[in-house]
Amino acid sequence: MTERLKINGDMFESFITEEQIRERIKELAVRINTDYTGKVPIFIGVLNGSFIFLSDLIREITIDCEIDFFKLSSYGDAKISSGHVMLLKDLNCQVFGRDIIVVEDIVDSGLSIAFIKKTIEKENPKSLKFVSLLLKKGIPKLDFPINYIGFEIPPDFVIGYGLDYAQKNRNLKSIYKLTLQGTATPEYVIDNGV
Ligand code: IMP
Ligand code: MG
Repeated sequence: MTERLKINGDMFESFITEEQIRERIKELAVRINTDYTGKVPIFIGVLNGSFIFLSDLIREITIDCEIDFFKLSSYGDAKISSGHVMLLKDLNCQVFGRDIIVVEDIVDSGLSIAFIKKTIEKENPKSLKFVSLLLKKGIPKLDFPINYIGFEIPPDFVIGYGLDYAQKNRNLKSIYKLTLQGTATPEYVIDNGV
C-alpha cells in the first residue's frame, strides 16, 4: 500500500521500505566484511544525513573497525543541492596509512563526495572506498566509482531514514519520494549539515 505524506504543500509517497533497507544493508555488510577481512577500516560518516545508515550498517559489520565523522554544509534551496560545499567539522582520526570507508546517505550531484575524496586523499590513506545508501542515476560530476551502493534511484527528491527536507523528516523510518511539488515559493535555507 502506498503511504502518502503532505509536507510544506508537497506530496511524498513511500518509496523504499524499512525491510528493503534492512535487507540491502545486510548484503552490503557481507561484502564489506569479506573485502576487509584482516584489516581495521575507519568508517567515516558524513553528517548529518548518514547517521542512521551508518549506525545500522556498522551493527552488521563483524570485523574490527573504527568510526569518525565529517560534517559538511551547503547553502541553497532545501530540495536542490547547492553546488557549494564547506567543511564544518573535520576528522579527529589519523587517516595516513589507514583503510578508509566513507559512508554517505545519498550521492546526488556528486559534489560533496568529490570534495570529501580530495580532502581525504591529501592525508595519504592506505585505501579509500565509498559507500552510499542511495545514488541518483546519471550524475555528471562523478568521475570515480562509489564502491558499495544500496539503491540506484531516479533523480527525485527523497526524505527519511536520515535524509532531510529543510532539516526535518530525518526521523522517518523509511524513505519517501517527492511526487507532486506544491506551488509555494521555494524555501531557501542555510543547510547546516547535509
Ligand atoms: P551532492 O553533493 O549533490 O551529491 O549531495 C549532497 C548532500 O545533499 C547529500 O549528502 C544529502 O545530504 C543531500 N541530498 C542530496 N539529494 C537529496 C535528497 O533527495 N533528499 C535529501 N537530501 C539530499
Ligand atoms: Mg540535506
